[in-house]
Amino acid sequence: TLPERVKIVEVGPRDGLQNEKTIVPTETKIHLIDMLSESGLSVVEATSFVSPKWVPQMADQVEVLKGIYRKPGVSYPVLTPNLKGFQAAVKAGASEVAIFGAASEQFSKKNINCSVDESLRRFDEVVKAATEAGVPVRGYVSCVLGCPYEGKVRPEKVAHVAKRLYSMGCYEISLGDTIGVGTPGSMQEMLAVVSREVPVNALAVHCHDTYGQALANILVALQMGVSVVDSSVSGLGGCPYAQGASGNVATEDLVYMLHGLGIQTGVDLTKLMDAGAFICRSLNRKTSSKVAQATCKL
Ligand code: HMG
Ligand code: MG
Repeated sequence: TLPERVKIVEVGPRDGLQNEKTIVPTETKIHLIDMLSESGLSVVEATSFVSPKWVPQMADQVEVLKGIYRKPGVSYPVLTPNLKGFQAAVKAGASEVAIFGAASEQFSKKNINCSVDESLRRFDEVVKAATEAGVPVRGYVSCVLGCPYEGKVRPEKVAHVAKRLYSMGCYEISLGDTIGVGTPGSMQEMLAVVSREVPVNALAVHCHDTYGQALANILVALQMGVSVVDSSVSGLGGCPYAQGASGNVATEDLVYMLHGLGIQTGVDLTKLMDAGAFICRSLNRKTSSKVAQATCKL
């Protein structure tokens, strides 16, 4: 059975833009976020409080967070890898944050410059501070279906890290196929193991679409009881520490599939496509969304 309603977590302004080589003007980011919230999305991940030396594109995080229109009912989580990032985020007005770990040692090292165990220690500090401040924390686990440095990743390792984040107090755990190598088979196997440790209603899937498997993988996750899905407008995205990985599943394509299945999202597809057209024009690039391409009048 499929869920009646799916919560979409739009990650385009963060995951989508973090990998862009050319610095995107702050006003463009703000306008994109405002168009996305206007389309009916209830969660729009806005930016990252990470080191500007590591990810220069996110260096304007404070201006972005202060510049957006906070639509009532919409949350705007930001990435915070450590206490320093968390404190800066709260100071800038963040009301929700996300910590991001990995099921692979090598990826953790490359992405946040520490081991998985050390990252969990840092995240524990963030969650404690966030709990005190009444700020909800989302948890990511990267490389759940494969790692660009280590190859295969065991579902048990994913379950271990997911459980640790959940026990710390993350209200939701987003399982990231960072390099988009999963297939419905490996997704099913991984979710079966992880959902023994974390309740399925606290799980989300975050599929990059490198191998074109994202929608199929998401459908399997929905059939297994997952009802929160991350996606990126126009299929923008990638991770600077996962070379060659393409963007997330396009939000337009996800919405089209969900509505086709009779699943509610609250999203107005036309307005969403306007946001996609806006950011593609600004970046001077073609959309990766099949739905947007299909409806493009050439
Ligand atoms: P580090 O160099 O090990 O940190 O970086 P450090 O504590 O040794 O500090 C070094 C410098 O960074 C110092 O500045 C700190 O103040 C500064 P300096 O004295 O050299 O001028 N610093 C910070 N500055 C701003 N904000 C902070 C912060 N912390 C320290 N929060 C660190 C460790 C985690 C900061 C670094 O590795 C980093 O920024 N990594 C971010 C990587 C990133 O953003 N990756 C992409 C997002 S994850 C992703 O895309 C995957 C996901 O989509 C899911 C999926 O697809 O799987 C979520
Ligand atoms: Mg990602």
